[in-house]
Amino acid sequence: MQTATIQVTDVLDSYLEQWQQEPVLFVQDTMGVDPTLHQNQLLNSVAHKPRTAVKSGHGTGKSSGAAMAIWWKLVCFPYARVPVTAPTAHQLEDILWAELSKWGKKLEPHFRDQFDIKSKKVVNRANPDDWFAVGRTARRGESDALQGFHDDNLMFVVDEAFGVHEKNFEPVKGALTQAGNSILIMGNPTDLTGYAAKAFKKNRARWNCLTFNSEDSPLVSAEYVEEMEAEYGRNSDIFKVRVQGEFPRAAFNQLIAHNLADAARGKFMRPEMYQHAAKLLGVDVARFGDDRSVITKRQGLLTHPQQKFYGIDTMTLAGHVAHEITTWKPDATFVDVGGMGAGVVDRLRQLGHEVIEVNFGDVATDENKYHNKRSEIWGEMMAWLKAGGSIPDDDDLVDDLVGPLYAHDSKQRLALERKRDMKKRGLASPDCGDSLAVTFAEKVSPKSWRGDAQPKVDYDPLQGLPDSETSGMDYNPI
Ligand SMILES: Nc1ncnc2c1ncn2[C@@H]1O[C@H](COP(=O)(O)OP(=O)(O)OP(=O)(O)O)[C@@H](O)[C@H]1O
Ligand SMILES: [Mg+2]
Repeated sequence: MQTATIQVTDVLDSYLEQWQQEPVLFVQDTMGVDPTLHQNQLLNSVAHKPRTAVKSGHGTGKSSGAAMAIWWKLVCFPYARVPVTAPTAHQLEDILWAELSKWGKKLEPHFRDQFDIKSKKVVNRANPDDWFAVGRTARRGESDALQGFHDDNLMFVVDEAFGVHEKNFEPVKGALTQAGNSILIMGNPTDLTGYAAKAFKKNRARWNCLTFNSEDSPLVSAEYVEEMEAEYGRNSDIFKVRVQGEFPRAAFNQLIAHNLADAARGKFMRPEMYQHAAKLLGVDVARFGDDRSVITKRQGLLTHPQQKFYGIDTMTLAGHVAHEITTWKPDATFVDVGGMGAGVVDRLRQLGHEVIEVNFGDVATDENKYHNKRSEIWGEMMAWLKAGGSIPDDDDLVDDLVGPLYAHDSKQRLALERKRDMKKRGLASPDCGDSLAVTFAEKVSPKSWRGDAQPKVDYDPLQGLPDSETSGMDYNPI
C-alpha cells in the first residue's frame, strides 16, 4: 500500500513541469474541472505573458479563473508568492477567497494537503513564510496592498481592478522587471482613466488584453442578458459594461461626490433657513434579506437625525411611523413600497394616515431625464445638496450617499446603479440614502399654505451655501 501511494504521488509530481506550461491541463488533471473558453484564455495568458488584463461583463468566471490561476502558481512553482488584492474586503474575502477555497477543495489531495487555507492567506505547510498567496484590501490612494514583495516567482492578482486606485499599483512596476514575475488584473470596465483602463489604451502594447462578453459565457444565464437589454437597451453604457465587457462612452461616476456629502454633514441650520418649508417624512422599508428600515424627517434644507431599526416587522415599523405622523405632523409621508413596504403602507392607511407610495422602478416624473423614479429622486437629492441641504453627522448616511454610481441608458437618461450591482461591488444597501431620497418623490407645500397664494416650494435654493463650498464638483451628471 505504502509503495503504491508513493508511486502515484511521484507520477503526479512528474507532471509539474508540463503543467507549468499548460495551466488548463493542470486544472483538468488536478481539479477535475473544465475551464470555460474565457478561463482558457485567462490561464494561458497568465502562464505565458507577464501582463494580463481582462475586461468583462458580469459572471463570466473571472474570479474563479483567477482562483484556478492562483492554485496553478502555488502548486507548480516552488516558493511562489501571490499577492492578491481588490478594492473592498467583501470582494477579496467573500468572493475571491471563497472561490479560492472552493477550487482548492477540488484539488487532488496530494497537492491540497501541502497547503493551509486561512482567511486571508494560503500557505505552503512546509514553508509558510516563503511560499504563499496573501490577500490585502487595496485602500484608496494607498500603495501598501501590493508592497513588500521583491523576489522572483511573484504573481500579482487584482480583482475588480477598475475600482483600484492607480497608486496601489506603484509597487508592481519594480517587481515586474524580474523574469518569471507576472500580473493579472480583471474587472468590469467602469472606469476610463485609471491603471486598468490604461492597460487597454495607452499601455496596450505591454499587456495581453482580453475581453469577455457575458453573452458568450456558458456561466451567464440568457435571462440575465435579456433582463439587462430590456431594462437599459443594447446601446446603453450599462449594457456595454455589465454585459459585453466594453468601455462606456462616459465613465461610471459617483452620483454624489465625497466633498458634496462632507459639506452637508453636520451643517448648522438657522430656523429661518428651513421653518417655512414643508415637513416631509421618508420611510425606507427593509427588503427581503436586508434587515434595516430607516425613517427620515426633512424640512426644506434640514435633515433631522435618522431613526434606524433592525429586524423589526412591518406592523412595528408602521407603529413608529404613525407615532412620527401624529407627533411631528409632517405635510407628507413617503414610503418606499418595494419589498415589504406595501405592508407598512396598508397598516398606515388602516390607521387613517395619508401616505404617498414611492415605487423605485416606476417611470420618472421627468422621464426624458431619468431612467426611473429612483434615479430621479437621487438626482433631485443631489441638486438639493448642491443647493445647501444639510444632513446629520452620520457615517452610515454619508457612506450611502457617496456609494451609488450612475451611467446613461440607451435614451441618454441618468440611470442610478442598482442595489444588487452595488452589492456585487461589496457595498451595503443604501437604506439611509434611500430613506432621505424618498422625501424628494414629489414637490410638497406646507399644509398651512395650501389654498392660499403662497408659492409651492419645498426648499429655497437661494438659502443654501455659497457656491465655493460645493465647488470642486468636476462633473454634472444631469
Ligand atoms: N469552469 C467552471 N465550471 C463551472 N462553474 C464555474 C466555472 N467557473 C466559474 N464557475 C461558477 O460560475 C459563477 C460565476 O463565476 P465568477 O464569480 O468567477 O464570475 P465573475 O466573472 O468573477 O463574476 P462577477 O462579474 O460577479 O465578478 C460562480 O458561481 C463560479 O463558481
Ligand atoms: Mg468576480
